Amino acid sequence: MGIGTIAFFGLGHIRQMSRPSQDKEVSGSDSAHRRPVRSYVLRGGRLTEGQKRALAELWPHFGIDDSDAMLDLGELFGNRAPVIMEIGFGNGEATWQMAGAHPEENYIGVEVHRPGVGHLLLKIEKHGIRNIRIACADAAEFLRKRIPEGSLEGVRIYFPDPWPKKRHHKRRIIQPSFVRLLASRMRPGAILHVATDWEPYAEHMLEVLDSVNGFVNLSTSGGFHNKPDWRPETKYEKRGERLGHKVKDLLFRRMASAPCSG
Ligand SMILES: C[S@@+](CC[C@H](N)C(=O)[O-])C[C@H]1O[C@@H](n2cnc3c(N)ncnc32)[C@H](O)[C@@H]1O
Repeated sequence: MGIGTIAFFGLGHIRQMSRPSQDKEVSGSDSAHRRPVRSYVLRGGRLTEGQKRALAELWPHFGIDDSDAMLDLGELFGNRAPVIMEIGFGNGEATWQMAGAHPEENYIGVEVHRPGVGHLLLKIEKHGIRNIRIACADAAEFLRKRIPEGSLEGVRIYFPDPWPKKRHHKRRIIQPSFVRLLASRMRPGAILHVATDWEPYAEHMLEVLDSVNGFVNLSTSGGFHNKPDWRPETKYEKRGERLGHKVKDLLFRRMASAPCSG
């Protein structure tokens, strides 16, 4: 499965940006099946006029165009500051706040939902943020093809789709193969931070992260962690709170010897 490209409606010029596959089954791959099992379903969702403008005008600077070539992260940002990746940023509210609060770090946001990308670009413009780059792509493919091994200082995945039905559990992004892929792209000492408001998914995350060699749980209890200061409240978190859900954070450190990606 490859990442497709779409012609982008620039004002007078056409840009290319990656577009995740339109397959109904959506991330990660399940080698037992021919069709890849994906962690998302592409929602339609119209772009607002502001988002269209942001995509046309700001994507050339902040967007990561589709390619099969490995990225040079220093070249991408124009400096060698540590790089943190946020996967599935939704509308990017947490992304711009974290990047704005930490100009000494660089952030790569990965999201398949184009209106969310447009929303984040508008926030980047409004708040004058420079240290974010955005990929509109399937995170598993993007990591495999574009991110050098041992290059990320941190990975954050906030409120990933919980896929509550048993038959959909295979679509959950936190799976051993995906976590091994993350480990391969993280440098020793880097932190993987995930959060969810869906208790059964939190238990599943704990089980998966405990089972993958190369990570150590930063919670002294061996379970969930207090919310670290760097995580802003996200849109999905607020929704979960309105429904009375409890939020769980998990923080795992990548140890010196991590397994190869699967
Ligand atoms: C439930 S939303 C949470 C959004 C945001 N993190 C928040 O807390 O508000 C999950 C997001 O992950 C995105 N997503 C799911 N699988 C993905 C993948 N493989 N690559 C990139 N984005 C993905 C979805 O498009 C969706 O926007």
